[in-house]
Amino acid sequence: VDPRAPFSLNIGRFTTQVFFCTAEELQRELSSTEAFFCFDEHTLELWPGSPRCRAVVPAGEEHKNLRQLEYAAGEAVAAGMSRDSRFIAVGGGVLCDMTALLASLYMRGAPLSLVPTTLLAMVDASVGGKTGIDFRGYKNLLGTFYPAEMVYIVPELLATLPDEEFLGGLAEVIKHGLLGDDQLLKLLEEQRDNVLDRDTDLCGRMIARSLRVKAAYVQEDPREEGIRAHLNLGHTFAHALESCSGLGRYGHGGAVAWGIARALLLGELLGLTPSSYRQRVQELLSAYGYSLNIPEADPGALAEAMERDKKKRAGELRFVLQEGPGKTLLQTVPRTALLEALNATI
Ligand SMILES: NC(=O)c1ccc[n+]([C@@H]2O[C@H](COP(=O)([O-])OP(=O)(O)OC[C@H]3O[C@@H](n4cnc5c(N)ncnc54)[C@H](O)[C@@H]3O)[C@@H](O)[C@H]2O)c1
Repeated sequence: VDPRAPFSLNIGRFTTQVFFCTAEELQRELSSTEAFFCFDEHTLELWPGSPRCRAVVPAGEEHKNLRQLEYAAGEAVAAGMSRDSRFIAVGGGVLCDMTALLASLYMRGAPLSLVPTTLLAMVDASVGGKTGIDFRGYKNLLGTFYPAEMVYIVPELLATLPDEEFLGGLAEVIKHGLLGDDQLLKLLEEQRDNVLDRDTDLCGRMIARSLRVKAAYVQEDPREEGIRAHLNLGHTFAHALESCSGLGRYGHGGAVAWGIARALLLGELLGLTPSSYRQRVQELLSAYGYSLNIPEADPGALAEAMERDKKKRAGELRFVLQEGPGKTLLQTVPRTALLEALNATI
């Protein structure tokens, strides 16, 4: 079965339908719709013509805020959007999260479609129902749970994406392969050059496989009460790296890749992860150019950042570890093992 066949997933009382199509098919599908389009300044250029009803926000996480939400809401009102008007986001995770929040609030909930245009948004942010904007320095502090009705994946839109953004999303694709799709893992190992060249056909299959892994987790645990936490593989490490001053420069994807390698090493130190599997994953991550050793990252400072993060979430510091591909578990770990995993040169 072609992984790009359309599929739908049930998330609580919502249903999301996912379609894979070309840019031309997308135009045909959406041009007849009377809808409110949200773009950022870069993604507006990806759209031929200019929809009559639209908002264009500045690009970047620093604009994922109340001010831009208010601006977009104002444009929707001015354009006469009703409760039945469809909101369509064309953009990366920032734009998708903000538009989804707006749609969830607009007249208590308007129809929502997402056209993710970054690899990260295609394989992660577009599915799962989390919406949000940043507030008072906290990421996604204001948000709702509102899955899109439709998600359109158009792999050819990746052609213009900057390399760093592509690699940012690819770390999540690799993570999805490790969590639950051996064929995806093999594709990534065997077709590195074609993946990096963004071959449209190959990227389509890769995105479809990756998205289906995320969708399976979301469907099983919509409210993130249990197994969905596996999707945080590498992220406890990544968030700590990003919050240690000056280390944010590795980008989210770089931090996640480094975090995955550290999580597997931690698992090996605890006797859970076979060394051969850890090495296989390290080789894959290195092949895509991620730095797995970041000498200036101080283990003590990183461990403290993890503790702080845990306190903020009022939770337990549990790590996502693996016994092999698709064999994932959550566990608290002794600090000595954590420090050893952070300290090691790999
Ligand atoms: N809702 C969720 O479940 C979820 C999951 C993961 C991440 N997120 C959120 O996603 C956000 C990050 O998303 P992102 O990495 O997509 O960043 P982004 O939305 O900021 O996009 C990155 C940059 O790429 C540009 N861009 C987008 N598509 C392009 C294209 N096709 N060609 C050229 N340039 C393009 C954008 O204008 C922007 O400058 C974060 O705010 C994060 O919280 C949400």
